[in-house]
Amino acid sequence: MSWGLDNRLSRIFQPSNGRTLMLAVDHGYFQGPTSGLEVPKDAITPLLPYADTLMVTRGVLRRCVDPNSKIPVVLRVSGGTSILKELSNEGLTTSIEDAIRLNVSGVAISIFVGSEYERQTLLNLSKLVDTCERYGIPVLAVTAVGRDMNRDARYLSLCCRIATEIGAHIVKTYYCENFDKIVKSSPVPIVIAGGKKIPEKAALDLAYNALRDGALGVDMGRNIFQSKYPVAMIRSVRAIVHENATSKEAFVLFNKLRRKEKDS
Ligand code: 5RP
Repeated sequence: MSWGLDNRLSRIFQPSNGRTLMLAVDHGYFQGPTSGLEVPKDAITPLLPYADTLMVTRGVLRRCVDPNSKIPVVLRVSGGTSILKELSNEGLTTSIEDAIRLNVSGVAISIFVGSEYERQTLLNLSKLVDTCERYGIPVLAVTAVGRDMNRDARYLSLCCRIATEIGAHIVKTYYCENFDKIVKSSPVPIVIAGGKKIPEKAALDLAYNALRDGALGVDMGRNIFQSKYPVAMIRSVRAIVHENATSKEAFVLFNKLRRKEKDS
């Protein structure tokens, strides 16, 4: 580890409790103007005060996020495919020089274990880790499994462990039964994606259970920006991540805040 790397990690994970609430808004890199993010600036701006970190591509960062903002950025640097094609056929889309120029706190890349281009994406990760180690920039590996594989502990732990072995500094995965086994077998900070939009109480349960079972944070997108009440939702997730709220308490808070959001 180096001072620069540790310093960047401490911007992502709050030193007070070692946790993070990362707001994922990078979906457009393969989904285009996805629901809730059609106008990125309008979706992102009201949420920023409640996020610890923003996961975003360079295009949206440059055009839609105020450079005076103090938000630490985890920059999505993999892509090259779209929902119309084989998703696993990714390459690196952003140079290390541009990531440094954008003053990022970390970079993110997907790996697709069990997919057609598994090897390519794993080698992308190893190349990125080698490059980023030179500059003290943490790499977040986003895990995806093949289309016909369940997102269960068997496949997700395979994915997370491989990402850990290759040298990812943070691993993002999905919550599942026996999640604690994934955490134990992948000795790096684990954060969870929210996945497809589900009812708010279910998403809060997911966040609570993941943290209880050893995740160090959430990197949540659709369950925040696709909520009818995104500000109420991110503030409620925040209560779980940083105020030790139970999901029941967070849902009470959500209902209180959503009334205010509706009126404003
Ligand atoms: C896509 C990503 C997204 O940022 C992330 O997984 C989405 O988060 P969510 O599932 O909570 O919408 O990495 O590959």
